[in-house]
Amino acid sequence: MDQQTGSTHLWSDECEAALCGQIQLELYASYVYMTMANFFDRNDVAFHHIAEYFKNESKEERKHAEMMMEYHNKRGGTTLFSEIRAPQPLNMTNCSILKAMQAALELEETVYKNLLKLHDIADKDPEFQDFIEAHFLHEQVDAIHKLKGYITNLKRVGEGVGEFLFNQHFENE
Ligand SMILES: [Fe+2]
Ligand SMILES: [Fe+2]
Repeated sequence: MDQQTGSTHLWSDECEAALCGQIQLELYASYVYMTMANFFDRNDVAFHHIAEYFKNESKEERKHAEMMMEYHNKRGGTTLFSEIRAPQPLNMTNCSILKAMQAALELEETVYKNLLKLHDIADKDPEFQDFIEAHFLHEQVDAIHKLKGYITNLKRVGEGVGEFLFNQHFENE
């Protein structure tokens, strides 16, 4: 609800709650990518291009949360901050580049589904729907497509030297 005018017809409580949930999910995604970046940067893992990629992804997700918070202020809403769940700790047995990309795909698909729910909740708010479409939905489709391509190539080359070469030649399109 708009604190200045007390009006509820311009910005609904349902949109407010759903947007807060989305912001929390974007911050969680940022946290997960940060964990991955940190793992691949270890000197006993040493996949530095991959570490750099996940570091950028982490920044991207934080940027998404920031864009949503700025938008929320524009609409006169209040962002409620809640606890961000800790990502699963990564180690040599539960993580490889392939496993990390598969986990990233799962995460991006969850984000996409949540954005679609948010879009449904905003069905009486075309301006909000447009914000979601223009800034997040298309990007999510691109991200999912990109991750699926990485997974295809990682399965093709296999672990060991294959993974080493994948990191060596990794370019983030
Ligand atoms: Fe995002
Ligand atoms: Fe993303």
